[in-house]
Amino acid sequence: MRNFINLKDISAKDLRKILNDAKKRKNKRKKLSTLDIDRDRPLEGKLLIQMYEQPSSRTRLSFHIAINQLGAGSIIVKASELHLGKGGESLADTAKILSTYGDGFMLRSDSDEKIEDFSKNLSIPIINLLSPSSHPCQVLSDIFTVEEIKKKSISKLNIAWIGDSNNVLNSLIATSVKFKFKLNIGCPKNYRPPKFVIDWVKKNKRKIYIFNDPKKAVKNADVIFSDKVVSLSDRVNKKKKIKDFRNYRVNSSLLKYAKKDVIFLHCLPRGNEVTDDVFLGNKSKVWQQALNRVHVQKSILLYCFGKLR
Ligand code: CP
Ligand code: NVA
Repeated sequence: MRNFINLKDISAKDLRKILNDAKKRKNKRKKLSTLDIDRDRPLEGKLLIQMYEQPSSRTRLSFHIAINQLGAGSIIVKASELHLGKGGESLADTAKILSTYGDGFMLRSDSDEKIEDFSKNLSIPIINLLSPSSHPCQVLSDIFTVEEIKKKSISKLNIAWIGDSNNVLNSLIATSVKFKFKLNIGCPKNYRPPKFVIDWVKKNKRKIYIFNDPKKAVKNADVIFSDKVVSLSDRVNKKKKIKDFRNYRVNSSLLKYAKKDVIFLHCLPRGNEVTDDVFLGNKSKVWQQALNRVHVQKSILLYCFGKLR
């Protein structure tokens, strides 16, 4: 049994195994409908419990489909409807109960500590569905999308991130170390990745490149990523933050500095960090990106249960 909490803590070899498995499984489903179960029914009989402390559209639905395709069953619980928290039940007791009824637990939380606490008290795998510090399922799936579209290993590509130093970027930085790809970041001075993140990159003998000028950040990029300026767990002056990012909008003139065949990715939901013409234009692959979450998350689940082929 393995957890999937932070990409930093998973070996490059295992991450690559997950991506390879997702590719094989996706290929085999060409003629199948959304809820048709994969022929090998690898998680038949298992119950997976998803819990959300914050809103979610894509993660919730893509995992629902992923779980069904693996032959398992799922239930989604709202944090506000459990005894945990307001009802006074301890996290340890809730974790014991989840482990009694369920085979896997998936949590979106506004607290990294809570995910860690659960992992210590559960006897079933836990998957991080987004926390303030990372969004591992999203980013591993995004690597899959990049390689699927570009038809080459991400290690051969120039990746640019325009936006805040948030959970999604942290996970992207982790993958840039694991898969050894070049990562440029374009952000205002006060919103650079924190020192401990840069130190971790250095410790792993890698480098990330940070620019105040978004044009420099996207120069020669094969892929441009962007994300909301204000994240779910941000406790900031939203108006000020959005104003601070006004020169970091991904628009068609910025795209001209990248490679001709650049693609644009965004995990959604979006704000005004990207213009409509880019987001809805032919370089944008955001819908394919969203759909691929189903395929990669299936292989993440199989990794957790030690069932990767
Ligand atoms: N990208 C993503 O995780 O979307 P949701 O917040 O809708 O799950
Ligand atoms: N950085 C965003 C990602 C949303 C999927 C957030 O945390 O709100």
